[in-house]
Amino acid sequence: MRVAIALGGSLLDLDRTEYIAELGCLLRAVSRDLDLYLVTGGGRTARAYIRAGRSLGAPEEVLDRLGIAATRLNALLVKATLDDQRPVSLSIEEAAASPPPVVMGGTVPGHSTDAVAAMLARAVGARRLVIATDVDGIYTADPKRDARARRYQSISIRELRSMCPDEWRAAGTSSVVDGIACRIIEEERLPSAVVSGKNLQDLENAIYGREFNGTTIEV
Ligand code: UTP
Repeated sequence: MRVAIALGGSLLDLDRTEYIAELGCLLRAVSRDLDLYLVTGGGRTARAYIRAGRSLGAPEEVLDRLGIAATRLNALLVKATLDDQRPVSLSIEEAAASPPPVVMGGTVPGHSTDAVAAMLARAVGARRLVIATDVDGIYTADPKRDARARRYQSISIRELRSMCPDEWRAAGTSSVVDGIACRIIEEERLPSAVVSGKNLQDLENAIYGREFNGTTIEV
């Protein structure tokens, strides 16, 4: 069974390599049962480069390319935990043709790594897409800013799409789930989950399709 994972770059804190090592243990164990296709985000490194590029007046496409480079750095780091010395796949086609476990970063300007993970899921016919972030699901409002925000246990893809802009806005921006990823989830009727990657037990449960703390996207 094939499973695609979007791993938010915010989870890969370079000062907390013990977490990255534990994540690697989980991924190694899971990949004995499942074919894993994992896409890493760019996190703080991406945002720092995008901010610097923007202040230098670089065009949006260049800013996206800076972000992509950061996502690929993170992919290399996660690959190190899997003892995988293959280069990072640069395109969906290349990744889909590689034997799993596959770890890659971004591809081309104009979307986030959530979209890349949804595209990869579509290309390999994944059974589900797990979006692992630093928040434990989808909320009615930003839980970091609004104390009254309530977590959805499940949300229809239609409602989620109404919360996420369809178009790509600017390098380094993020919506709850990338609008392009949402479109693919809806078109492919791809069962999807949003879970906190900080809690490795929940992440494992979501990967296996068991009950987990987080939000199920109903397709
Ligand atoms: P992400 O937005 O996917 O990384 O990529 P992130 O910071 O980990 O996202 P969160 O933590 O899940 O929110 C960083 C930036 O790289 C560019 C975009 O500008 C994006 O904002 N990018 C990434 C692309 O242009 N194309 C890609 O395929 C991937």
